[in-house]
Amino acid sequence: MRPTPVLLDCDPGIDDALAIAYLVAEHLAGRIELVGVVCTAGNVGLPDTVANALAWLDLAGAPPVPVCAGAAGAIAVPHVFTPETHGPRGAGHAVLDTTTRCVDARDGARLWVDAARAYPGELVAIVTGPSSTLAGALEREPDLPGLVADLAVMGGTFRGHPGNTTPVGEWNVDVDPEAADAICLRWEAARAADADLMVPLWCGLNLTERAVWTPRHSERLLAVADSPLTRALVEALRFYFEFHDSVGEGYLARVHDPFVAWLALHPDMVITEDSHVRVECGGEHTRGMTVEDRRGHRGRADNARIATGVRVPGGPDAVLDEVFAAIASLGR
Ligand code: BDR
Ligand code: CA
Repeated sequence: MRPTPVLLDCDPGIDDALAIAYLVAEHLAGRIELVGVVCTAGNVGLPDTVANALAWLDLAGAPPVPVCAGAAGAIAVPHVFTPETHGPRGAGHAVLDTTTRCVDARDGARLWVDAARAYPGELVAIVTGPSSTLAGALEREPDLPGLVADLAVMGGTFRGHPGNTTPVGEWNVDVDPEAADAICLRWEAARAADADLMVPLWCGLNLTERAVWTPRHSERLLAVADSPLTRALVEALRFYFEFHDSVGEGYLARVHDPFVAWLALHPDMVITEDSHVRVECGGEHTRGMTVEDRRGHRGRADNARIATGVRVPGGPDAVLDEVFAAIASLGR
């Protein structure tokens, strides 16, 4: 059986860097084929997310893989950058070398479409940043939902869990709600036309905030695998600890993105509930909220699988241990 083809759309970003390293490790172990990396503007601007992706791929020892620049900002509103979260260049305290790895000439939406068409019914796509580039890809290829085998989105918050950007909003969705809502609408239409279609796995803060990286993880990482990669990750994470501490969460880091990458690769181990989701694009107090219709008031086709837990003894901590082990395998 050939390894699962995987496309990552990210905005590195400190926890995105862990997701990149994790996926490179899985690729090198022969469990997946990382077929492309799309960079989208996120907490920092597009030039930085692209440069960071290239540098992290180099540090992780990734084979040549197309890296494309996607959307430079939110599709309908001015993009809000938040360097206080991931550092001025998106890599915390890490200083990343410029690399000789080149950016692919295609834009990120084109890579989405090309990858989906190259692996119809096989591609597992993972979004760990805003959905802005994916929204553009859906414009170009309306059949994208039928082409990808599965899509995992780090976005939103469900089941009454509070937001991390507004009282009800998670950052990736809050920064570009129109893009996230386009994902909801397009998969709703596709599911209405094909009842067997797999709807996206929405991994919100209700679950991802349980993936907690502590200084102890960083110490252990350096102890078992001291390398340029792990030293840079630890420096990046030191900034993420300080950010979380500054907002009252303690000296720790919630590492949403590698956790979602793991969920995407282990769908059978994710507890989900099918649902209908729309993203609030208007409300004065609720813009960016992921609004789930649990009782079917809207009478619409399900367009989302809401991730609510993991079927893993040890829960999210054990998942993080697997991510840790994969990343540590790169540094040895
Ligand atoms: C998400 O926002 C970003 O800051 C993180 O990288 C993650 O993708 C969490 O809300
Ligand atoms: Ca991210």
